[in-house]
Amino acid sequence: MKAAKTIYSCQECGAQSQKWLGRCAECGAWNSLVEERAVPTPVGGGAAAAAAGSRYALAGSAGPRLYEDIDTVVSERLTTGIGEFDRLLGGGVVPGSLVLIGGEPGIGKSTLLLQAAAHFSATTGTVLYSSGEESEHQIKSRGERLGVGKAPLYLLAETCLERILEEITRLRPALVIVDSVQTVFSLKFQSAPGSIGQVREAATQLLFAAKGQNIPTFLVGHVTKDGNLAGPKSLEHIVDTVLYFEGEKHHAHRIVRAVKNRFGAVSELGVFEMTGKGLKAVPNPSELFLAERPANAAGSAVLCCVEGSRPLLVEVQALVSSTSYGNARRMASGIDQNRLSLLLAVLEKRAGLNLMGEDVFINVAGGMTIDEPASDLAVVGAVASSLRNRPIKAGTAVFGEVGLAGEIRGTTQGSLRVREAALMGFTRCILPHGNCAPDEAPSGCELVFVKTVGEALDQMMDW
Ligand code: TYD
Ligand code: MG
Repeated sequence: MKAAKTIYSCQECGAQSQKWLGRCAECGAWNSLVEERAVPTPVGGGAAAAAAGSRYALAGSAGPRLYEDIDTVVSERLTTGIGEFDRLLGGGVVPGSLVLIGGEPGIGKSTLLLQAAAHFSATTGTVLYSSGEESEHQIKSRGERLGVGKAPLYLLAETCLERILEEITRLRPALVIVDSVQTVFSLKFQSAPGSIGQVREAATQLLFAAKGQNIPTFLVGHVTKDGNLAGPKSLEHIVDTVLYFEGEKHHAHRIVRAVKNRFGAVSELGVFEMTGKGLKAVPNPSELFLAERPANAAGSAVLCCVEGSRPLLVEVQALVSSTSYGNARRMASGIDQNRLSLLLAVLEKRAGLNLMGEDVFINVAGGMTIDEPASDLAVVGAVASSLRNRPIKAGTAVFGEVGLAGEIRGTTQGSLRVREAALMGFTRCILPHGNCAPDEAPSGCELVFVKTVGEALDQMMDW
């Protein structure tokens, strides 16, 4: 018999090598190669491959079919009973979909999924919750706290992939939850659970189970120190949807974002609050983010941003103070650091502000991360307001992208942003000239269209 072949895979990037190397040739990570047993690939024609890998076949992949012969199936969405969670998924759980939920330890992944499982089992059908991290008793005591009633919810404390798949086939649940994919190991591999080969195998096998038996499956994934999903990016390619817990453990609220979604909008955002009875959806996040905003303080701007399909008002804060020694410090939390440098350069050159000897700190209140360019105008406004120590006029919300020539560029979904600002009681909204007036301008909110940074700053404050 031919000896089983060993390969070495990088735990960071998934690259494989025949020999052990101290440093991965692909990604340059040190000491990341781990020995794994290679899986024999079936050789021969398509028939042999089909025989060997028939369990790899997705439902209905019998051969190529003509596009027009395929019926459109509008798959009904199953509700998890948590409206905010359904919205994140694009309107509910799609049958047969594989969803990955990532986040730091202790942020609430297991809590959210147990709540969803409880609701789902009470309304839709049997749920199998397989946990490799907690015993049945631990899950039950958490469930008691969350008020899980009598519902067909099966708990399974198991880490062996083959056993989990067996139970899925036996129980035929309406929803499967695997917490977490890093603890699952397959008997086919000898590497430790959590290594890239194991994680990939677990995710792939669960994908086939989900698609083949049309059972929606949720996987919990751990994140590494630098915030990537451990085990690693390759997981994100396998699954249909990736949800990610953002924000910090130190805040009571949790932000869950859809980073990838084959069945809905990306960047869709759900805001929850961690309470003594688990996670509760926050009905009006703008209110939450603006709750502690200081009145009439310099360096605070209110931004209308859009995350997925949801408009949100957040506070962007800036502190500009003179540098005491060495190079000026520029620190951004919640927005991109490079974007901040760019905006400061625009302010110096196009608006005549002198920021050379100033430290600049930016923070988006509430632990939000904003990566859309529409936030530029708020950053620029907050910096100028802090530098001149003049508060931005009360009741003013802003949005717009700032170009290198100091021009204000139009953004998407202008009317959605304006409507949210009006709804939250803002009386003025400063927006790009390129965003034409919304068809039905909200009453009580004056729209101020601006073309340049200078003009925008003039409208924001008396400086
Ligand atoms: P958990 O869901 O175990 O996190 P993860 O699975 O992402 O590691 O979250 C645990 C945290 O949530 C823990 O710090 C306690 C807190 N918590 C509450 O505040 N209230 C609750 O009702 C529950 C169940 C947990
Ligand atoms: Mg957990």
